[in-house]
Amino acid sequence: MKIGIIGAGHIGGTAARLFVEAGHEVSVSNSRGPDSLRDLAAALGSKAHAATVDDAAAFGEVILLATPWRKPEALPSPARVAGKVVIDAMNPYTATGGLQDLGTSTSSEETAKRLPGARLVKAFNTIYFEHLATRGRRDLPVEERHAIFVAGDDAAAKRVVETLIEQIGFAPVDTGSLREGGQRQQPGTAIYNRPMTGAEARAALARGG
Ligand SMILES: NC(=O)c1ccc[n+]([C@@H]2O[C@H](COP(=O)([O-])OP(=O)(O)OC[C@H]3O[C@@H](n4cnc5c(N)ncnc54)[C@H](OP(=O)(O)O)[C@@H]3O)[C@@H](O)[C@H]2O)c1
Repeated sequence: MKIGIIGAGHIGGTAARLFVEAGHEVSVSNSRGPDSLRDLAAALGSKAHAATVDDAAAFGEVILLATPWRKPEALPSPARVAGKVVIDAMNPYTATGGLQDLGTSTSSEETAKRLPGARLVKAFNTIYFEHLATRGRRDLPVEERHAIFVAGDDAAAKRVVETLIEQIGFAPVDTGSLREGGQRQQPGTAIYNRPMTGAEARAALARGG
């Protein structure tokens, strides 16, 4: 699969490596342009290249958004991602580390408004990047692996993301719709940045987590 990565920092850079290791092709992008990503692309190998944000988005069948949520200007043009599976890994932190007040909305619902037509799936936002970097275990049964939560309204798009999560050695756990699952996955909830296996994650959700 071709995956466009928007934001090549802690989360985007880590996910790019895992996707390449799972056999996918990635296009990585950031705010400073492809030249600044030459070393990363070289380290990732022949299945990776650096691009602008819009070119990475055009390249990807799946797009990973891993930029600061408070910077909507970091997002690709909506036309580049319309109809595509878009993974929203972003959390609505302010520049000083607080949380943006979104009222009754959630950050991914706001992302969906910014990218009309995208098949948005909220995932990778609850896992600390060092856990993402080190805890993938393709050798374990899925329910015994570290959980990565997934929310969204497009069942087929969710399945695509869940398959990617399994391919990189984690356990995908469905939290529900973009609204309700998105609320469960927000910073500060019982499952946010809490390392747990797939089985433990399902139990936490059943307890109302
Ligand atoms: N860190 C974690 O453990 C973690 C875990 C889960 C979710 N998240 C979420 O994932 C997102 C990224 O976090 P991170 O820790 O990976 O951040 P990071 O290491 O600071 O990386 C941010 C990336 O976004 C790029 N970026 C910033 N402004 C941009 C713009 N205007 N246009 C294009 N690219 C831009 C940066 O490019 P430049 O370097 O060129 O500016 C950089 O590649 C955040 O929303 C965060 O809440 C983080």
